[in-house]
Amino acid sequence: MADSSGKFGSAEFVVIANRLPVDRVVAPDGSTTWRTSPGGLVTALEPVMRRKGGAWIGWHGAPDEKLRPFTHQGLKLVPVHLSESEVVEYYEGFSNGTLWPLYHDVIAPPAFHREWWDAYVTVNRRFAERAAKVAAEGAIVWVQDYQLQLVPAMLRELRPDVRIGFFLHIPFPPTELFQQLPWRREILEGLLGADLVGFQLNGAAGNFIRLVRQRVGHKTHRDAVYLPDGRVVRANAYPISIDAAGFEEMARDPAVVARAAEIRESLGNPRTIVLGIDRLDYTKGLRQRIRAFGELITEGAVHPDDAVFVQVATPSRERVDQYRMLRDEIDRLVGRLNGDVGRIGQPPITYLHASYPREEMAALYRAADVMVVTPLRDGMNLVAKEYVACRYDDRGSLVLSEFAGAAGELKQAYLVNPYDINGMKQAMLDAIKAGPKEQARRMKALRKQVMENDIDQWANDFLSELAPATHTKRTRPSR
Ligand code: G6P
Repeated sequence: MADSSGKFGSAEFVVIANRLPVDRVVAPDGSTTWRTSPGGLVTALEPVMRRKGGAWIGWHGAPDEKLRPFTHQGLKLVPVHLSESEVVEYYEGFSNGTLWPLYHDVIAPPAFHREWWDAYVTVNRRFAERAAKVAAEGAIVWVQDYQLQLVPAMLRELRPDVRIGFFLHIPFPPTELFQQLPWRREILEGLLGADLVGFQLNGAAGNFIRLVRQRVGHKTHRDAVYLPDGRVVRANAYPISIDAAGFEEMARDPAVVARAAEIRESLGNPRTIVLGIDRLDYTKGLRQRIRAFGELITEGAVHPDDAVFVQVATPSRERVDQYRMLRDEIDRLVGRLNGDVGRIGQPPITYLHASYPREEMAALYRAADVMVVTPLRDGMNLVAKEYVACRYDDRGSLVLSEFAGAAGELKQAYLVNPYDINGMKQAMLDAIKAGPKEQARRMKALRKQVMENDIDQWANDFLSELAPATHTKRTRPSR
């Protein structure tokens, strides 16, 4: 509904995320085009966006560049500008140097800097103002993730007519940790601007409700917060998922099947391929995983002719100190192990610091006999679900950390505590040794869970709770 007075915008559905769902592609002649980024979120929200004339507001990834709104494959994209110092203070600083480690069990020490906070407020306000301009009267606005926790309240102040949802993709910490934050009350009040606050797990929603009661002093009951002005905010869990059918289809593609065979061949046709795929992040438990595999090899429990470990680490947040240090540490760890026990043409670990297209990931998943996903803390972990979606052959084993949100659903994985190196070694060994029957028993149950709870389901669950008439009706096959 466009407003003839020009007071409102025309988008009935607005997504706000730190990043736009596109990557810039620069052609050899210097001209630029955009390619939809591989994430599942955009795939899930595309149908609603198209139906409702939606808009996606986000940063396009480069500093100091102002771009006008543009349309990409029928989707309206609204770029938000960040200056170089805002990239340093809002994105690398407060988002990834304060909130990220604080919300992930303080695995790395969070840094608290007042100027980072100021930049976080400024940038959140910019996103809120942009949304206030593009949203139609009574629109649905869905704010994503920890970089934008102040947007709900800022937007509500500008546009009390819109319905606001917020979803946190990462963990929400226990009250004892959250309270370290000098701006804890501001963040809670920012989130309370939403009508519905979504988390990955029930425990996170519970942490939030408890904090609101203790720190802000509002009345709460179960999933509801009662504000003094009569408004009710709900907080619930919506475990995110993937485009499961899309992954399976990709894994069935003959080109992907051929590539999987080629990968196996290049690795010297080992009996077992163990695979890890992660963003290079200190939350992912890479160190512990490499140590566990290394010890299995050096102690002789696994022979290097029998099993190889492929670790893909996607470059991430490379200017943040803790990420730089982690990269050096992993380089050293892998180098030492390969140096100690590798033979010519046979390193026990093949380590790749690179990002690959989805098809290559699917080929790797198909080639992998054992997938190791061992974060020290993770909101959900979609790699675990992607692996399962690709194993339509009911083969392969998943070793999964108890501290990944996905462990709540993927109970038939080999669940491990990544801090317990011996326990992890045993689970990896069990997974390496599992016969086809045991693999199928576990994988069938995992697949049922992943294939029946995909990202469309997730988006529909959230949106139908936020605004009952918005969701797309799923056509489920009749049973
Ligand atoms: C996590 C966060 C996302 C973020 C992604 C990549 O999944 O939940 O919000 O976009 O990591 O990190 P980056 O800093 O590159 O956006």
